[in-house]
Amino acid sequence: MPGPFDLEDARAYRAWRAQKLERNRAQLEAQLVEIADPHALSAPERAALLTRCSQSNFAVYACPPRAAARQDAARMLAAQLGLARLDRHHFAEDDGVSAITPGGGRRGEFIPYTDRAIGWHTDGYYNPAVRRIRAMTLHCVRDALEGGESALLDHEVAYILLRDEDPDLIRALSAPDALIIPPRLEGEAVARAAGTGPVFSVDPGDGKLHMRYTARGVNIAWKDDRATSTARAALEHVLQDASPWILRLRLAPGMGIVCNNVLHARSAFRDAPEQHRLLYRVRSYDRIAEV
Ligand SMILES: [Fe+2]
Repeated sequence: MPGPFDLEDARAYRAWRAQKLERNRAQLEAQLVEIADPHALSAPERAALLTRCSQSNFAVYACPPRAAARQDAARMLAAQLGLARLDRHHFAEDDGVSAITPGGGRRGEFIPYTDRAIGWHTDGYYNPAVRRIRAMTLHCVRDALEGGESALLDHEVAYILLRDEDPDLIRALSAPDALIIPPRLEGEAVARAAGTGPVFSVDPGDGKLHMRYTARGVNIAWKDDRATSTARAALEHVLQDASPWILRLRLAPGMGIVCNNVLHARSAFRDAPEQHRLLYRVRSYDRIAEV
């Protein structure tokens, strides 16, 4: 597909890259968006969120904790930003909202539902293409006693950093068999089929860049050749702690993130005995609406 992500079109790439980095830098310096009521955004609040997302694929907001605590706050906020088709994850409630909180039982087998760190990833990297997660939101109701810091990196900036280093890194990560997810079994049954696909791909519908990635080493396999392992190492280097393009923040009650499924990670945390950290998460097949 022609455009900035075409490796043969250096001109289109350079023009897009310059604007992208300038806007991203401005976004990293921008203040978070203050919201009075997540259930009913004012026109300027909505415009501020959409503008930030169009520039750097994410926005951070803060609303009064009391207004943020209602069960439907995350879903209603997402709906006002154009996220209509929600992913019904098997731990999501019927309304498509998942409560990310340390929980026992089967959920406790999965890292998001523990107090452990979560490495860099994009959401739904194990989903088939028909359930591609193009946007997700995290909405904090209760924070931890300590820890639980979030890190964000616009996946388009990760793409730029790699392509500037060597376009062959992008070529390797765009291979249709770069990242392989083995099937997940529950007993004898296949709970999730195997999935093979690229890390970077361009959505044929809108020409936007999509990224599938996880830093996890388990339940995942990479194409076994030198080009892929070199590209994977380069990407890990981009995600190192010192990058000026990474935003690190700790979500306090009432704060949240809306994004076009950018790269993100979470540090470990420790809860007070009687009160667990609680975030509501919404995942959608729709991107955040354009301004
Ligand atoms: Fe995630």
